[in-house]
Amino acid sequence: AKYTWVDKETCIACGACGASAPDIYDYDDEGLAEVIYGGDGNTGTTEIPEELYDDLQDALDGCPTDSIKVSDQPFNK
Ligand code: F3S
Repeated sequence: AKYTWVDKETCIACGACGASAPDIYDYDDEGLAEVIYGGDGNTGTTEIPEELYDDLQDALDGCPTDSIKVSDQPFNK
């Protein structure tokens, strides 16, 4: 299983993640990314389905500030 969230403290609103994985990431009013998949609310507790793993990996690899966090366990922040 895979889970993800965005660290908005380090996100610079570059927009790469939403382009790579539009079903997983969207942007708030300031352009900072957040996880919207399944109504996750950027909590990192919603399981990402396998068909989105390629998009997830692209977003992870493409973020210039390493703000995208991915784990095989739900996050507990
Ligand atoms: Fe922010 Fe990285 Fe996405 S800087 S907009 S989390 S690609």
